[in-house]
Amino acid sequence: MIKYVIGNWKLNPATLADATALAHAISLASKQASCHIGCCPTFLHFGAVKEILKDSSVWVGAQDVCAFGKMGAFTGDVSATQVVDMGANFTLIGHSERRSYHGETNVVLADKIRHAIDVGLVVVLCIGETKTQYDQGETLAVLDEQLSVLHGLDVPKQQLLIAYEPVWAIGTGLTPTVDEVAITHRHIKANLASQGIDDVGVLYGGSVNDNNAKELATCEVIDGALVGGASLKAESFSLIAQAFS
Ligand code: 13P
Repeated sequence: MIKYVIGNWKLNPATLADATALAHAISLASKQASCHIGCCPTFLHFGAVKEILKDSSVWVGAQDVCAFGKMGAFTGDVSATQVVDMGANFTLIGHSERRSYHGETNVVLADKIRHAIDVGLVVVLCIGETKTQYDQGETLAVLDEQLSVLHGLDVPKQQLLIAYEPVWAIGTGLTPTVDEVAITHRHIKANLASQGIDDVGVLYGGSVNDNNAKELATCEVIDGALVGGASLKAESFSLIAQAFS
């Protein structure tokens, strides 16, 4: 399976100039990597970044889409229909920062997934346990509950990727061991298979950097990386992409 390295820029960078500079650098980096590369700029920077990357192989994705509808009276929201019109290939759904800061539950996430799938986006569904849940040995049960959002949605496997991101590993410099990630990814794949969804890529996210990417990439059940902080530095992102190539 081809591997994926996706940069989640979150609420960065501060200026359009920095966003476009990063897009140009990623365009160059993509020529040195054979994995599938993607990035998720903010909605405000989306159009300019897509314009720079439109003739490259780099996917540009949304960080989120509106749950309520595709058009209408939803102040402050951006819809799946609009991001497709702007050239998006995929969208993140259910990132832990959306779950914690915006209180997103499976009910809301199911609506988002439905809208995204309807308009042809690939959904990168983000799941992961907190530190307390990890310490209490609840990781796999938490992931099962988060994956239950897919029940009854009939998501085509070509439109789905999973990103396993332990909340305690995001932005902390802490990571599970590769063996722990492997156990978790095998569990996720088994869960999906039990729902009739086979051959879906499972990415790891949480403090991936150019030092640990090589070891993660050697594991056969880690199908790529979802990268936060290190995706904002073109050189680190490029090295991570090369590790997964
Ligand atoms: P960091 O790579 O900064 O830990 O962030 C991971 C993440 O949340 C990607 O979605």
